[in-house]
Amino acid sequence: MTTTTDTTTTGRAVGTARTRVEGRDKVTGAARYAGEIPFAGLAHGWLVLSTVARGRISSLDDAPALAMPGVLAVLHHGNAPRVDTGYIGLLGRPNPVVGLFQHDRIPFMGWPVALVVAETSEQAREAADALLVGYEQEPHDVEFAAGHPGAYVPEEAMPGAGTEKGDLAERLAASAYVVDEEYTTPEEHHHSMEPHAATARWDGGRLEVVDSNQGTTWVASELASLFSLDPGSVRVRSEHVGGGFGSKGLAPHQVGAVMAATVLQRPVRVVLTRRQMFSLVGFRSPTHQRVTLGADAGGRLLALDHQALSLTSTVHEFIEPSATVARVMYDADAHRTGHRVVRLDVPTPTWMRAPGETPGSFALESAIDELAEKCGLDPVELRLRNEPETGPVSGLPFSKRNLRACLEEGARRFGWAGRDPRPGTRREGRWLLGTGVAAATFPSGVGASTASATALPDGRFTVRVNAADIGTGARTAMLSVAADALGVDPGRVRILLGDSDIGPAWIAGGSMGTRSWAWAVRLAAGELREMLALGGTIPPEGLTTRSDTSEAIQALAQLERHSYGAQFAEAAVDTSTGEVRVRRMLGIFAAGTVVNPLTARSQLVGGMTWGLSMALHEEAVRDRHSGGYVNADLAGYHVAAHADVTRVEADWVDDHDPQDPVGIKGIGEVGIVGAAAAVANAVWHATGVRHRSLPIRPDRVLTAAQEGTPGA
Ligand code: MOS
Repeated sequence: MTTTTDTTTTGRAVGTARTRVEGRDKVTGAARYAGEIPFAGLAHGWLVLSTVARGRISSLDDAPALAMPGVLAVLHHGNAPRVDTGYIGLLGRPNPVVGLFQHDRIPFMGWPVALVVAETSEQAREAADALLVGYEQEPHDVEFAAGHPGAYVPEEAMPGAGTEKGDLAERLAASAYVVDEEYTTPEEHHHSMEPHAATARWDGGRLEVVDSNQGTTWVASELASLFSLDPGSVRVRSEHVGGGFGSKGLAPHQVGAVMAATVLQRPVRVVLTRRQMFSLVGFRSPTHQRVTLGADAGGRLLALDHQALSLTSTVHEFIEPSATVARVMYDADAHRTGHRVVRLDVPTPTWMRAPGETPGSFALESAIDELAEKCGLDPVELRLRNEPETGPVSGLPFSKRNLRACLEEGARRFGWAGRDPRPGTRREGRWLLGTGVAAATFPSGVGASTASATALPDGRFTVRVNAADIGTGARTAMLSVAADALGVDPGRVRILLGDSDIGPAWIAGGSMGTRSWAWAVRLAAGELREMLALGGTIPPEGLTTRSDTSEAIQALAQLERHSYGAQFAEAAVDTSTGEVRVRRMLGIFAAGTVVNPLTARSQLVGGMTWGLSMALHEEAVRDRHSGGYVNADLAGYHVAAHADVTRVEADWVDDHDPQDPVGIKGIGEVGIVGAAAAVANAVWHATGVRHRSLPIRPDRVLTAAQEGTPGA
């Protein structure tokens, strides 16, 4: 199989705006989510989490809980089934938090210590509250700080490993302008609208789990490994998912449900509360980053150094790869990137929308803005002057970059021309006004997937691909891809997804879902179309073709493949109250073929909105004395609400990946990248104050205004 340059579509479904296939079901409540699908004889599990940040369980008395109405079982380290956490999964060794109740150690506040199972959710919750757990407490350390003595360079290969070329000190000394600044981002959480929920049951010797996740192949295979089951005996379904953002893989809820279903031999459901999600499903590590840039008199980069520190737990290593963005975005004679990590007594962070690029782009794109200021160059012009010919670190050619087009089209539509570069000079009533820009990038990957296409005797088609529609419109996107590949009207095609029995497919993650699944769908549907063209009758059970993209993907040429974007923002700042309002944002992206303009726009606008939220609001705060969260709910952890968001517009330039059968690059994550930097750069332009720590809270704006110095 060779890679093709065939981007001609046989129909016109790809590229046509289409409302979600299941949209009506969702808005009328007919679509059922994992926590609300009925099962006969369903029991309910409620997780009990540790109330200390480090130590061990010294006593656990389940007798009072077991005596309460409706209580069926209390699972804990003294009686829970044993599991195997020694396997290698999609993220390497599993996060030990999924190895429920295997020992008495407590590595962080909010570690699962028991599961109370009862006839109703209310009974389980009440008994969980009554469970008596004693702890032998040990001193904990939850304080993330730049100078932490425990910080180390991770041994893990990519992307944690550092990169280096050229003589940094020499090139910095030769630079006409130097920026050397530190930036921080706080701990942030996914907060998918639908909390994690799973129901497990044994059915005819097979384990069936109805779940909310980003890939049923993924969760099924990890559950099989964890419980030492034949992979064919585990089925995971996930029909509708209310968001994931990286947090919905294997987590304690599925494991607890499986354990309890096994012990009780009846269906058991475990639903996480919003508060429990804070410690059980991962988050984005806070970062401390240092960016050093050196440029010649014309603004061309001679030196670039991006160093990032993040945290992980004491039980599992996860690196937030913030410095990787610099390996793609800008070249310099001397170029260095690196990561360090510190182990603290906190839960393990994980992938969260554009892991690495999101905090990394805040630091790097802020630093580029600072360099533009020093060079006396327009920040769009500075970026255009530093467009690399090949991958700065890899030396590989770009499949298609197109960042220049994004910057130029964005500047045109935003009305950037004629912008007065001087900060703090535009006033409108109590508001100081400013505009900012930042660039965005995210890798364009593809993962092996299988699909099947069936022609039915009545002229209809069924296409099966184990995609996960996590709210993005994957089902609808696959419908367009399949219809075009079959050469039929989309109304004749039905898409089935979200069921591990369909066969292996890539997850809804890494911005790789649509591209990976579309490839498999196109292969299967294309072959079916050819077979049908040869004539013959369709048997009653239908005529089916199957595809597997493993070989095609392996044959892909090594190139720098990424989506790109340019983010523009206008901010209004009231320096007497500290309030920042983002009046408008415009993002122009080069993200390959856009399968469904309607849902693609929503996806990109969602990412940009999150970037606004990151810039101004989001921050999980940890209490160093207890080791727990101060604001583990959506009242204390503010996510941008409607009132915070005004005009956010996303659009794209003509773009396609020449080596993808449909031309797709990926749009899932690039929308958030650079968005926070664009807002921070606009706040600088409005006020003359650089905010290098997120979020740009009112108190930080006020402090900066009162001191007349940059906010900390
Ligand atoms: Mo995304 S962080 O790959 O779900």
